[in-house]
Amino acid sequence: KHTMKRIVFLLMAILLQVGVAWAQTDGHLPVSILSASHAMMRLQTDKHYLLIPVEEKESDSKIRIIKDGVCLETLNVRVATGKADYFVPIDLTRYGKGSVLVEMTFNGSYRTVGNIEDYSCWKLMKLSDTFDTANREQWRPTYHHTPVWGWMNDPNGMFYKDGVWHIYYQHNLYGSIWGNISWGHSTSTDLIHWKNEPEAIYPDALGLVFSGSAVVDEGNTAGFGKDAVVAMYTSADASQTQSLAYSTDNGKTFKKYEYNPVVTSNVPDFRDPNMFWNDSTKEWNLVIAAGQKMNFYSSKNLKDWHFESSFGEGYGCHKGVWECPDMMQMANGKWVLICNINPGGPYGGSATQYFVGHWDGHQFTCESKPETTKWLDYGKDHYATVTFSGAPNGRHVALAWMSNWQYAAVVPTKQFRSANSIPRDLDLFSDGGEDYVSVKPSPEVLSAFRCKAAGLDDACLIEVSRLRPNATIELSNGKGERVVMRYNAQEQSFSFDRMKAGESDFSDVFPCVTMAPTHGRVNKVLIFIDKSSIEVFDADGKFALTNLVFPSTPYNHLSVKGGKAKISKM
Ligand code: FRU
Repeated sequence: KHTMKRIVFLLMAILLQVGVAWAQTDGHLPVSILSASHAMMRLQTDKHYLLIPVEEKESDSKIRIIKDGVCLETLNVRVATGKADYFVPIDLTRYGKGSVLVEMTFNGSYRTVGNIEDYSCWKLMKLSDTFDTANREQWRPTYHHTPVWGWMNDPNGMFYKDGVWHIYYQHNLYGSIWGNISWGHSTSTDLIHWKNEPEAIYPDALGLVFSGSAVVDEGNTAGFGKDAVVAMYTSADASQTQSLAYSTDNGKTFKKYEYNPVVTSNVPDFRDPNMFWNDSTKEWNLVIAAGQKMNFYSSKNLKDWHFESSFGEGYGCHKGVWECPDMMQMANGKWVLICNINPGGPYGGSATQYFVGHWDGHQFTCESKPETTKWLDYGKDHYATVTFSGAPNGRHVALAWMSNWQYAAVVPTKQFRSANSIPRDLDLFSDGGEDYVSVKPSPEVLSAFRCKAAGLDDACLIEVSRLRPNATIELSNGKGERVVMRYNAQEQSFSFDRMKAGESDFSDVFPCVTMAPTHGRVNKVLIFIDKSSIEVFDADGKFALTNLVFPSTPYNHLSVKGGKAKISKM
């Protein structure tokens, strides 16, 4: 009897141990908890996804995917310990047949309460063949490009080929803040409807996949194949180096180049390579942001790059790091160097400046005085602007990331964060002896707004013509939220006031008034409204203002004093 009791006791003790060590009760995943901050589980990869609950207020946990003793991937995810804000999918099909070991290391010192055994993630994590991507966001734009889920910053590697516009973008698949950066991919045939494509370029041992560009190598100069899409991006780890990847299936899948990295430097901020073809020298050129300068290179084969020169010292705005360059030759032969800068923008944080000048294949010469600063957009949410390579008819079609590093990570969306601007066509105009870049909504976008609307909508275009000198345009809703735009002909300015536009408690620097110089008389403005953004363009392209707004209910009242308004829908 005694022995019986002992056996039962022993059995119970063992069961208890097992229960603590293997939290695999009632159908949950077979987690083995190894310490207060460390756990592992072996998973079969026959299901498509491992769904991880994310809690935005948590700090990052490190997740390693291990197969046959090799770490295939390291991810940083704010794994939920309490309430799950949303789920992110780890795509298990990428790891091949069989099983993987998923290791999770929690940031132990950060936690002051709770036992690892009690974390909600053990109950919430699940294997699934599906991941629900239905939109859950009130402020997700209708006709602007957004990631289906996760964080997005800069547009990258954009190119046009065979009637298709390709956007890649800085993407976090595992949360709606910056991190785990890979290149997401979307395509469009009309610059308005975007199709989500499989992730294009994932991080590797050289680092995260930062911003870059892509070109179509028509002449097979690199030897990757005729018409191969060749992308160059920054591999960001202990150093920032430049790597190549190429695609022989029109940008769907990429192979990394064996001899990466192809360009290195000891400058710490050395990134965002932008390649372009130079028809006069019949060579490829490359511009890379290097601290507060732009470095230029040349190449015959896209692989071996020769340093030519630097531009930037003493020119334009230097109140932040120079990033995301782009170079293009305009119809009149002049060159425009786009130079995104963060911080240092006219209204704080991120913005896009540019220089107009000449490029001879070796050196960029700016034609303005060094102290001249030119901004491409006078809103607060217009950054990382670059253009599509190979756009038809010599067009320069640009996209900007519609946010600002000051608050991009805390804007009130969760399933995804950030949208891109509408595509814009760039050209030049002159005023007072200076050339400026003109910015107009791309014709494809304009022609999408075909139907006359009865009133304001949360996705519409307002055209205000016959603008009088002190015109005001006000959008408002029943909650007392409003956006006020004012044209001041005397001061030659057009302002945009979002002080009381809607939700703004996520950032002190969100409420603001931004103002554009109008370079003369304004006759007509085009105002693109979407669920959480307003983009205003002078119809002649002399200024643009791009701003986010988060009205708690859509603006449904328009008041125009000093102009004639017409509202169109898609
Ligand atoms: C600009 C930027 C780039 C960099 C990328 C990283 O917003 O800082 O310079 O490549 O974001 O995501």
